[in-house]
Order: sequence, then structure tokens, then C-alpha cells
Amino acid sequence: MKNTLDIFNLNLKAFGLDISDQALKLVELEKKKKNQIKIRCLNETSLKDDVIKRGVVLKPDVLASSIKELIKKTKGLNTKYVVLSLPEEKAFLQVITMPKMKEEELKNAVKYEAENYIPFSIEKMYLDCESTFSESKKDTQEVLLAALQKETVDSYLEVLDLAGLVPLVLETESQAITRSLISNRKDKSPRMIMDIGASRTIFIISAGATPRFSASIPLSGNVLTEAVSKTLKIDFKKADELKRNCGLKRKTDKEKEVFDALIPAMVDLTEQMKKHIEYYHDYAQEKGFAEKDIKEVLVCGGGGNLIDLDKFLSEQLNLPVKIGNPFVNIPNHKQFTENELSFTVAIGLALRGLEEHD
Ligand SMILES: Nc1ncnc2c1ncn2[C@@H]1O[C@H](COP(=O)(O)OP(=O)(O)OP(=O)(O)O)[C@@H](O)[C@H]1O
Ligand SMILES: [Mg+2]
Repeated sequence: MKNTLDIFNLNLKAFGLDISDQALKLVELEKKKKNQIKIRCLNETSLKDDVIKRGVVLKPDVLASSIKELIKKTKGLNTKYVVLSLPEEKAFLQVITMPKMKEEELKNAVKYEAENYIPFSIEKMYLDCESTFSESKKDTQEVLLAALQKETVDSYLEVLDLAGLVPLVLETESQAITRSLISNRKDKSPRMIMDIGASRTIFIISAGATPRFSASIPLSGNVLTEAVSKTLKIDFKKADELKRNCGLKRKTDKEKEVFDALIPAMVDLTEQMKKHIEYYHDYAQEKGFAEKDIKEVLVCGGGGNLIDLDKFLSEQLNLPVKIGNPFVNIPNHKQFTENELSFTVAIGLALRGLEEHD
């Protein structure tokens, strides 16, 4: 029985496709001379309501048509092979401790161990695992376990098939995000990465470029807009514009009004961040890790554009908070879009597409 996400291992070039509830984003990268990476193409389109809800595909045929249309209008895209992200809210991702063994043996052994961690029937899940980083002991190793319900994965595979695409790799959003934002592969420091999207926020605790675990919460960019819309009694579109213009500034009366509308959700977000940061500290202490504390927070996703978000969070958490740079691994890139933070997942997927091609 095939029970893994590692679908093919061929030397093909592939583009990255990020399917969210409300938008499609694609990126294709290519390697030029001297191993320089260039963006071959980057594009996005919005999705109609109710095509996908909370990561569940409700209208596969409509989704497939939207993908086809996006591909058609994207100049330069020249491959049908794709690296696709699967929604974090449907994924289980955690580092687990396993006895030391070879990679091939690990794939099999992890199936039995996974039952102790995953609150679903293993038979209904696709599992993948990779042996990871620094904190390995003499007899044990740390292994990143990723699991997704077969039903979810199969629904996305059906859509790709309908769109005439071939999946090369499937991975969770958090795997793509860490690959995109972390440049120094040797730096294994613990970080918290937060992707604030339209419909959910993902928290990732990473050790360098590998996620250790992830969680997602419904507090999102659109929840912030709704807060402005409700408090100031204006429609969603106007509220979104006001949110983008004012952010968390507090100089003018209008900015103060918007700030007051945003603050309950911002406090909630900060509390949830603190909970995850403390959880990591306790976990690292229990495991006897050398680095027990989160060193910094990186923010991405469209919601990361909120003006003064980094300053606000940094004061609340007493930690360095930085806006992530999804192009940190693609130096000297030409700017393709204003909203680069929204493309963090798609860029991470495209980078994986390049690795597969090497
Ligand atoms: N300049 C800005 N200031 C504040 N928020 C912004 C800004 N630009 C975009 N956003 C917010 O970012 C959100 C969209 O982010 P993003 O494009 O990452 O979402 P998505 O990937 O489609 O959704 P998800 O990842 O939740 O499935 C929206 O809520 C939008 O209001
Ligand atoms: Mg997203």
C-alpha cells in the first residue's frame, strides 16, 4: 500500500502553485549561469466564493478551470509539472523522536510511531517523513512527520488532473514558507514564523529552514478587515482599504479609530503567539535542547503588510519581530509584484521545484 506523499522522484522542472480559499498564486523559477536564480514568471488570480472553504475543495471543476485560465494568461510558464502546497489547517506536522535507522527503514517504522501522535486513523492518512537536524542524540534522531488526510490530498490531485497538470511534489504550506524565508541553511536557531493570510494564520516553529511544528487559527487578515467594517459601520471593501492605509498607526483621528477597531483581534493574536512561544520553551526544556528560546519572529502572508505590525508585536512580545523576505534566496530579483509577502508559499514551492530539477 502506498502511504507516502513522496510521489515521484524525477528530474523535471516544475512551478509552484499555492491554492488558498480565495486565490491562486503561481511562481516558476529558473537557474541561470553561475547558479543565479531568476523568476521566470509570477502570477495570481482570485477565486470565487465557495470554490474552496477552509481548505476543502467544494467545486473541483471550477477550481480546475481557474487554474487553467491563470496558466493561459501567464507568459513564460513552460511546464505542466507542479509543486503544490496543501492547506496547513488540514495537515499534521511535528518533529518526533525515533531510534536511529536508515532513511528507507524510517519510512516504514514511522507508520507505527505516527499512531501515537496523530488523532486520526493512520489508514486514512498519507504520511511523509524526513530525518532532521541538530538535536540528534547518540541512539535517537529527530524526524519531521507530515501527515494529511487521503481524502484532502486526493481531492487536490483530482483538480490537478482536471487542469492537465502533473504533481511532482506535494507539501504543506509551512514547509514551503520556511524554505522561502530562511537563507542560512546552517543556522538552526528556533524561530517563530507567522503567515497571516486572508482566511487563516499559520504559526510555525522552525529550526533553521525546517519546521518543527505548525498550527493554524482562524484569526486572519479578513477577520481584521471585518473588525474595522463592524466597528466603523462601513462595508468590507472600504474597511479593507482603510486597514491597508492606516495599519496600526495612531497619529490622525481616523488612524486612532482604526487602531481601536483592530486592537481586540491584535491582542488575541498576541496571546496566541505567546502561548506557542511558551509551549516551545517548555518542549525544548523537556528535551534538553541547547537553544530553548525563540530567537525572533518572522511575519509573512498578505496580512504581514499591516503598517507597524512588526513594531506592535515586538513591543508586546519583547522579541525581535521582522517582516520576512520571501526573496531572500533569490538575490537581485526584479520586482514582479507589490504584494511580495502574499507569494511566500508559492516562492517556497518554486524553490522546491528547482531542487527537484538539479
Ligand atoms: N497592505 C496591507 N495591509 C494590511 N493587510 C493587507 C495588506 N495587503 C494585503 N493584506 C491582507 O492580506 C490578506 C491576504 O493575504 P494572502 O494573499 O497571503 O492570503 P491568501 O494566501 O489568499 O489566503 P490564506 O493563506 O489565508 O489561505 C487579506 O486579508 C488582505 O486584507
Ligand atoms: Mg496563503
